[in-house]
Amino acid sequence: MKKILVTGGAGYIGSHTCVELINAGYEVFIYDNFSNSSPIAIDRIAKITGKTVKYVQGDILDQDLLESTIKSNNCDTVIHFAGLKSVGESVKHPISYYENNVVGTLTLLKAMENCNINKIVFSSSATVYGDPQFLPLTEAHPLSATNPYGNSKLIIEDILRDIYTSSPDWSITILRYFNPVGAHSSGLIGEDPKGTPNNLMPYVAQVAIGRLAELTVFGNDYETADGTGVRDYIHVTDLAKGHLKAIEQIGTPQCSEINLGTGVGYSVIDVINAFKLASNRDIPFRFADRRKGDIATCFADPNLAKEILGWQAELGIKEMCDDHWKWQHKNPEGYSAT
Ligand code: NAD
Ligand code: WQD
Repeated sequence: MKKILVTGGAGYIGSHTCVELINAGYEVFIYDNFSNSSPIAIDRIAKITGKTVKYVQGDILDQDLLESTIKSNNCDTVIHFAGLKSVGESVKHPISYYENNVVGTLTLLKAMENCNINKIVFSSSATVYGDPQFLPLTEAHPLSATNPYGNSKLIIEDILRDIYTSSPDWSITILRYFNPVGAHSSGLIGEDPKGTPNNLMPYVAQVAIGRLAELTVFGNDYETADGTGVRDYIHVTDLAKGHLKAIEQIGTPQCSEINLGTGVGYSVIDVINAFKLASNRDIPFRFADRRKGDIATCFADPNLAKEILGWQAELGIKEMCDDHWKWQHKNPEGYSAT
């Protein structure tokens, strides 16, 4: 049974993935600096799974701590979630984004090399496809970046492909997530954005609970059915199960890029309507100009994940909104109030 170092394991996607891994019998060790998360998330993982969860507060820029953590826990596989993820912030603070994401990943890869481990699952993003030239997005779609965050993901993907070329005994799975939303069905863990959310679903949830007055819908003049942007929202539990499948298979030397999406697109208005039903609350909104850098439509071709991993998303927009609302309702101030 693999022993897995989970960088960023206290974060939104990491915490949900740890639950699935632990429930499947894997030993996980969380490595997180809590720059965008709380140790309370780790207590909640323990509560959901009924298992003690080992972790250390550490930075992926700290190679010595990474190496001692890997060695002392006999980790043989890494899932690498740690990094900064706000597109807007990355435009304002590119150095910090390249340092955390690119230098941080390089530091982790050096630590892995020194510890003689070579199996890694990496969190990439559909943002590496840039403005779609065709839909649905297959893994063969040309890659490009329009902001430092997206570029950091592209650079890391290139580094991983270069490592595989030079050392074909590595096993590397690059997962390209579409738009993760929702929360664990227990309502105990979920996304807890610091400050005002940038992403649609957490913003809508905070309007529904009354923390924010109204949603601004960025653009109603896109070439979509209702004029608002269309995205491939994926339930975070489905995403977490995708990682479980990737871990079950990792080991054979390979380097693959795989979309994790549903293949279905929903507009901003679709999301508002589904969230209204889930929460039974009003979601006041107003239309405004398009947000700079946004694209009209983005959804995945999820077939490769089915073929290679035997995985496909099972939960729809209703479950995404129901579970996101359960988390928001049970934790109106996120983890900070507990
Ligand atoms: P998150 O911010 O909730 O989780 C990231 C975790 O990494 C946090 O717990 C944070 O404290 C930790 N971290 C950040 N920098 C660190 C460092 N230098 N050292 C140690 N720990 C550090 O984000 P998330 O939504 O769970 O995303 C996880 C990964 O998935 C990220 O790499 C992100 O870029 C990628 N991703 C996210 C989305 C999304 O919309 N949420 C979409 C595509 C890809
Ligand atoms: C979705 C739709 C907005 C907020 C971002 C990153 C991407 C990935 C996922 C990490 C769009 C509209 C949003 C609001 C709105 N992250 N919207 N009002 O932009 O598809 O992707 O998160 O890798 O890299 O770019 O997600 O949730 O921000 O937006 O109208 O207050 O909702 O215009 O159409 P996006 P999002």
